[in-house]
Amino acid sequence: MIPTRNDQFSFGLWTVGWQARDPFGDATRKPMDPVYAVHKLAELGAWGVTFHDDDLINFTSSSAARDEMVTRFKAALDDTGLVVPMMTTNLFTHPVFKDGAFTSNDRGVRRFALRKVMRNLDLAAELGAKTYVFWGGREGSETDAAKDVRAALDRYREAIDFLAQYVIDNKLGLRFALEPKPNEPRGDILLPTVGSALAFISTLDHNEMVGVNPEVGHEQMAGMNFVHSIAQALWQEKLFHIDLNGQHGAKFDQDLIFGHGDLLSAFFLVDLLENGGPSGGPSYNGPRHFDYKPLRTEMEDGVWESAKANMVTYLILKERAKSFRADPEVQAALEESMVYALADPTLEKGENWQELLKDKSAYEDFDLDKAASISYGFVRLSQLAVEHALGAR
Ligand code: GCO
Ligand code: MN
Ligand code: MN
Repeated sequence: MIPTRNDQFSFGLWTVGWQARDPFGDATRKPMDPVYAVHKLAELGAWGVTFHDDDLINFTSSSAARDEMVTRFKAALDDTGLVVPMMTTNLFTHPVFKDGAFTSNDRGVRRFALRKVMRNLDLAAELGAKTYVFWGGREGSETDAAKDVRAALDRYREAIDFLAQYVIDNKLGLRFALEPKPNEPRGDILLPTVGSALAFISTLDHNEMVGVNPEVGHEQMAGMNFVHSIAQALWQEKLFHIDLNGQHGAKFDQDLIFGHGDLLSAFFLVDLLENGGPSGGPSYNGPRHFDYKPLRTEMEDGVWESAKANMVTYLILKERAKSFRADPEVQAALEESMVYALADPTLEKGENWQELLKDKSAYEDFDLDKAASISYGFVRLSQLAVEHALGAR
């Protein structure tokens, strides 16, 4: 399996460039020049590279130093043909953001955060990015005594509405994608799941230009079914971007390689994205973006090994999901399990409640015992999926 540009694989500079500093230990790897990362990713068959403002150059650097770095970076993009489909802002590393950015209790910090984002929105448009991600890692609290959550949501909305207006007025051609996470680094983060983000988005002034950027591990940290979350985001036409990685259940954010956590969920996810699940597809044509951390135990060879592993695992699962959908036995089993029948509307066309009341077959004559005693055949279906996922069919 060899990744190509057509697969639309993208990586954050902060992923392969992660020096593996964690709360208990120092860096195990040296800093990586973004220009070098661009060349290596292109060599491996990636299509895009994404970054936070500070991944390229620290925001406290002089304008001259920043311009020089941007010029070098652009040259690397030109040399390799790599694109920048998405950009984002670091609103979490500097101590000034210790109580959040858009929702810090300190108004000065909130205004500073807006300016930091605006500066990078301009660069995003210049580099041709189409999506701008907001991951509010520090927007939250450790104690409910310290945060007025309703006021914080007011300020969050104020920030997103304001920045959307900036994008519109300056014709930057960007859409926003909010990335939910339940906790880490804050004890509790605002907009913890895809569901809460979707509900929040519906209250925004420019809700049409705001969607979600769900990350596999974040949803799983909250005990959610990632495939269900993605399906709902698609159903609401809000899947603007996706962060692929791996996670073993509800614990700290592991940011493992895609498929190296809940493999079966990864199989069904790829099936949903590529084949649209039972409804047919594809359902998503945006970047396949990897947001993972190369294991702290590895040196640079392991970094590139892991970058490759993300893409190859995705391609294998794509191939496995195609074979699952194409298998006549699977199709018969889906039919028998009435999976396709769920697409039939429950009511007749235009049927009103008076008509349903008149339909005795729906209630009075409905054979309860018969309907209660059918076997749905889901075990067989599930096993067929496992066998296809494992390459046993
Ligand atoms: C995490 C997050 C981050 C964000 C990224 C974009 O693992 O907690 O995924 O990596 O996606 O910082 O702002
Ligand atoms: Mn993560
Ligand atoms: Mn992420």
